[in-house]
Parts: sequence; C-alpha cells; structure tokens
Amino acid sequence: MQNFEGRVVAITGGASGIGLAMARRFGAAGMKVAIGDVEKTALDTAMEALAAEGIEAMGFATDVTDQGQMDAFAQAAVKAFGGVHIFCNNAGVGGGGLSWESPLSTWEWTLGVNLWGVIHGIRSFVPLVLQHDEGHVVNTASVAGLVAAPYMGAYNASKHAVVALSETLYHEFAITGAKAHVSVLCPGWVNTGIAESERNRPAHLTEAADTSREGMEQSSVMAEMLKSMISTGMDPSEVAQAVFDAVVNEQFWIQTHAKTDDDMWTKAVNSRLDSARNRTNPPLNLLV
Ligand SMILES: NC(=O)c1ccc[n+]([C@@H]2O[C@H](COP(=O)([O-])OP(=O)(O)OC[C@H]3O[C@@H](n4cnc5c(N)ncnc54)[C@H](O)[C@@H]3O)[C@@H](O)[C@H]2O)c1
Repeated sequence: MQNFEGRVVAITGGASGIGLAMARRFGAAGMKVAIGDVEKTALDTAMEALAAEGIEAMGFATDVTDQGQMDAFAQAAVKAFGGVHIFCNNAGVGGGGLSWESPLSTWEWTLGVNLWGVIHGIRSFVPLVLQHDEGHVVNTASVAGLVAAPYMGAYNASKHAVVALSETLYHEFAITGAKAHVSVLCPGWVNTGIAESERNRPAHLTEAADTSREGMEQSSVMAEMLKSMISTGMDPSEVAQAVFDAVVNEQFWIQTHAKTDDDMWTKAVNSRLDSARNRTNPPLNLLV
C-alpha cells in the first residue's frame, strides 16, 4: 500500500503497547485511526494522547472475543471515517502453565482473545478492506507462532493458529484476485503490558491459583523470567515501524527480532524447521 493520507486504519488492542505504537505510526502518515479495546481507561488515555499528537482517532469499547462487539466496532469505524483500508488484528493476552495443569478457563480466555478475536476480526473487517483499490490486513502472532516453548501451551497454540490463518488468507487473497495484502507480525520480546494481561481477564474466566499443582513453581519461575525479558524488550515504536514498512513493501513475514542468521530468534525458528524437515525430535528453545 502506498497511499496513507486521509485513509483509515482500524486496530484491535490499540489502547496500549504494540497496538498504540501502530496507531501512532499510521497516524503520523496521515491516516485516521479507529481503536477497539476492552480496557476503557487505557482507551480514553490513548485517545487523549493521539489527539495531542494531532492524530484523528476514535475509540470504541470492544471485547474481541465477541463477534457482535467486533461487528459493532467495524460499523462504528465506517460510520466515523467512511471505510477501513488497513486492519490490524492485534489484541492479545498471555496465559501460561503446564499444558495439562492449566485451568480450562486459561485455555478459554487465551484462545478466546488471541485466536477467536482474530477470527472475529477477519470476518468483520476483511470485507471492508476488500472494498478499496488497495488495502492491508496485519495479524499479530508472535515468535511463539513459529516455535513452541514449554509452559506456554495456550499462548503457543493461539499464535501458531494465527500464523496458519494468515498464510491461508494470503493464498485466498491471491486466488480471488483481491487488491489487499496480508502480513503476520511475529515479534520476540517487546516492552509492553503483556505480562500484566490478567488486568483484562474477565471474572467468569478467572480461577484461584491451585498451589498443589506440580508445575506451579516452574510456571511462576518461567513467568518471572518472561516478565524480565519483556521489560527489557524492543521498544513498541520499532515494531510499529517494521509493520509500516511491511505494509508499504507488501511483505508477508514481519519478524522484528530475527534479523541475521546468527541471532537467537533466527536460530530458534530454523532449528524447529530443521527438526520437522529432518524428522528429528524438537529442539528446546526457551528464547532467553
Ligand atoms: N510484548 C511482547 O513481547 C509480544 C511479543 C510477541 C507478540 N505480542 C503480541 O502483541 C499483541 C499486543 O500485545 P502487547 O504486547 O502490546 O500487550 P499490551 O498488554 O500492552 O496490549 C494488548 C492490548 O490488548 C487489549 N486487550 C486484551 N484483551 C482484549 C479483549 N478481550 N478485547 C479487546 N482488547 C483486548 C489490552 O487492553 C491492550 O490494550 C498481542 O497479540 C501479543 O500477543 C507481544
């Protein structure tokens, strides 16, 4: 996509972190920004910040786990700005633990936001994006969509599914002659609020921690490790710039951290692909 001025980007989970950085980057290119997010106070703060930066933006309280709310967000964006040219399917949460010990509520919440949210977004927004002479869909997955570290079963499953869905969409756009393009964003650690995802966990999908579970201790060690990796991670603005460049260049893979053959991220992805190719057992990649 080459023309941004006066056009419209819609972003889920855009009230903070990577989503807000994308709002800023596309806004700086002259786009109008529609943000759907479940966290009302962060949404209001984001609207004030974007307005102060001279970016025309609207916020819409949206829980991406609900198709009706996603449809309502899409309609609100069209009503406010006349259409949607770029859609960023970005809202996400981090849920972890040993796969067989993670409560069902953790699986339901994580897959509800990270996978069903993306499915709902595709269903509500792709038809809008396809109405224009050029358009783009960006699905936020993760390096966790390319490798599978332990204690992250629900998160890994959701992100691998988002990668698969994005590749599917890529082929479907090509086969149907769509004028839109698709990218999948697979970052490593980024300095955002993802480690505090529980702040948005609904009461009906919350369970008291069961300290008798065997994996509880290792899971919390792992969670602390992830927290520290995230707090020293890449600045979200750098991720947003990579997304912007990918939209301009119609580039599918956005691997913000995997840059050279020798870095930890590239090695992790390649070693997993090699194990599949050579039918050897999966290598352990903790990404720390
Ligand atoms: N931070 C990282 O290290 C990292 C790495 C790889 C991928 N990601 C992915 O990036 C995306 C953005 O996360 P982030 O790191 O900016 O974290 P963040 O917590 O700063 O932002 C996530 C946003 O999603 C919103 N959200 C959560 N549940 C929602 C729901 N049900 N409906 C609507 N909005 C909801 C939150 O309110 C928040 O604004 C996620 O998909 C995440 O999985 C993050």
